Amino acid sequence: MDKIWVQGIFEKLKTKLTAECERNKTNIPYIPVNGRYENMEKSEGIFWWTNGFWPGMLWQMYNATKDELFRKTAEYTEVQFDKALEGFEGLHHDVGFMWLHTSVANYRLTGNDDSRRRSLHASNLLAGRYNPAGKFIRAWNMDRTGWIIIDCMMNIPILYWASKETDDPRFKIVGMEHAYTTLNHLVRSDGSCNHIAVLSPITGDCLETPAGQGFASGSSWSRGQSWGLYGFALSYRHTNDVKFLDAAKRIAHYVIANFAQNDWLPIVDFRSPAEPVKYDSTAAMISACGLLEISNHVGEYEKKLYTNAALKLLTTVEKNFADWNIETDGIIGKGTGSYHGKPHDTEVPIIYADYFFTEAILRILEKDFLIW
Ligand code: GLY
Repeated sequence: MDKIWVQGIFEKLKTKLTAECERNKTNIPYIPVNGRYENMEKSEGIFWWTNGFWPGMLWQMYNATKDELFRKTAEYTEVQFDKALEGFEGLHHDVGFMWLHTSVANYRLTGNDDSRRRSLHASNLLAGRYNPAGKFIRAWNMDRTGWIIIDCMMNIPILYWASKETDDPRFKIVGMEHAYTTLNHLVRSDGSCNHIAVLSPITGDCLETPAGQGFASGSSWSRGQSWGLYGFALSYRHTNDVKFLDAAKRIAHYVIANFAQNDWLPIVDFRSPAEPVKYDSTAAMISACGLLEISNHVGEYEKKLYTNAALKLLTTVEKNFADWNIETDGIIGKGTGSYHGKPHDTEVPIIYADYFFTEAILRILEKDFLIW
C-alpha cells in the first residue's frame, strides 16, 4: 500500500470537503452544475436515493477528524429527512442508503436517541416490503410488485443493524432471505450479475431478467456488479454465512479481470460495444470499498489480491478523473447514472463516487467507521 499517497489524499479531502461544507451548509448535494451543487429542491427532491451520501461522507470525515463543521452539516440532512418519513409513500427499497448514512451513522457515533428512532422507523419500512412467498424485498413502487435489483444488497445492512439493536432476529432473517434470493436469481455462474429480475409475487418464480441501467438484458452493468460485490461481502460480515463471502469473491474475481482489461479505467458496462467508450467512476469506487471489505475476511496471501486491486482502482481514477480545485464542488468526475442516460448524469461528478472514494481512503488509513 502506498501510505504516503493515501495520507496525501486524506489531507486534500480535508481541505476540499471543508470548502464544500462552507458553501453547502443547508444543501443536499448530488451532481454539480457549472461546478457548484444545486439547491436540492432544484434537483431530485427529498426522496432521492443518493441524498444520504453527502452526510455519510461528512460523518466519515467527522469520525476521522472530529471537526464539528462536518458533524453539524451532516445533521442538517438527517433532520430534513423527517419530511420523507412523514410522506413515506415516496420511499422504497433505498431507505437503507438514506438512513444508514444519516441517523444510523449519527447514532453509532453519538448515541443520539432521535437518530435511533428514525433508524428503526426506516428499518421497519424496509422490512415491510418483504414478500414471504418469494422471499424477497421488492424494489421501487408502482406496479413493480415482483421486482428485485442487485443494488438492494446495499440496503439490507440496515436490517442487520436493526436486529442487533433490538435483539430481535426478524430483521436479519428478512435480510438474509432476500440475499439468498438475490444470489439465486441475479448472480450468474461466471460472477457477473443481472441488474433486475422480475419474480412472480405469488410464487417467487423468475419470469424475466430485463435490461436495467446497463447496456441491455444479459449485459454486465459495472455499478451493478459493484453493488453485488460489496453487498455480499457486507452480508457475510453481518451473518458469517460463507455462501455470501463466496459470492462476493466470485463477483470480485470477475470484476477485477474486467477492470484490468481496460487498464483499471472503469467503463459503464463490461458487455457493451467497444465504441463509444463511456466511463463510470462510481463502479470503481464502490468496488474498491468492497474489495477492501473482502480483504478483512481472507488470509494474508489472498489479502494482497484484493487490496492491490482496490489501490489500482483508487489511484487510476484519482489520477485521471479527480478535481481538487477548492472553488468547485465534486471531486471524482466521470460518474454515469446509466448506460443510455441523458447528458446531465453521464460522465459527471456524482456524490456517491466521492462518498465511496472517501470511505476507501479512510479504510486504508484505519480511520473509517462502519456505516453499513
Ligand atoms: N441504486 C441506483 C443506482 O445505482 O443507480
